[in-house]
Amino acid sequence: MADPRGASKRAAGHAAAELVRDGQRLGLGTGSTVEFVLQRLAERCAEGLDVAGVPTSEQTARRARELGIPLLELAEVDRLDLAIDGADEVDPAGNLIKGGGGALTREKIVAAAADRLVVVASPEKLVDRLGATFRLPIEVLAFGLRQTTARVAGCGLAPALRTGPDGAPFVTDEGNLILDCELGPMGDLGALDAALQAIPGVLEHGLFLGMAGLTVVGEADGSTRTIQHR
Ligand code: A5P
Repeated sequence: MADPRGASKRAAGHAAAELVRDGQRLGLGTGSTVEFVLQRLAERCAEGLDVAGVPTSEQTARRARELGIPLLELAEVDRLDLAIDGADEVDPAGNLIKGGGGALTREKIVAAAADRLVVVASPEKLVDRLGATFRLPIEVLAFGLRQTTARVAGCGLAPALRTGPDGAPFVTDEGNLILDCELGPMGDLGALDAALQAIPGVLEHGLFLGMAGLTVVGEADGSTRTIQHR
């Protein structure tokens, strides 16, 4: 079945692809909204735009190759000019929850390497507080899962191991597992960020605090608006 939010995702993705300038090195995010970024970027590349991108997932790498977008390894560059990625939630300050697709670790590394992170979103991604509609994904090592899960729960979260359609544990591109965590009313996201980073076995979590510069919101009628965060 077609995604009912397809029109707003397409509008956001195409508008963000127009922000790309010749010669830029890009971070290419992951997900169904980024798919539209890739499609428009591929058209612009075919028209002569000279760019190359670091994909944040095997899925994005595959799509970029299919579409003819030149790829880069992160190891080939010091910095990226611009990363464009989706989000699961965006709060009024531009803080994000990401990782619905399980690519959060590579996404955060790529976003941190970029001079600017532009988020592409459909309107339902905008929330008053993070955790309102989506659980926080945390990427963890399989080794010590029981102990790591208990420590995550000790941070006031309610973790559940992500499974795939076949009921087997979901495995990330890095070969790890994901805990999806109910956040509840969470006062200090910075303290939660630090507490999660301090847990042995936690690779990365999906809170992207203070990273996004701009969110491009697509509407169902094909229009867009932008929210400047910093
Ligand atoms: C991938 O791990 C995620 O961070 C995605 O960027 C996020 O889930 C948004 O995906 P959609 O654009 O498919 O909603």
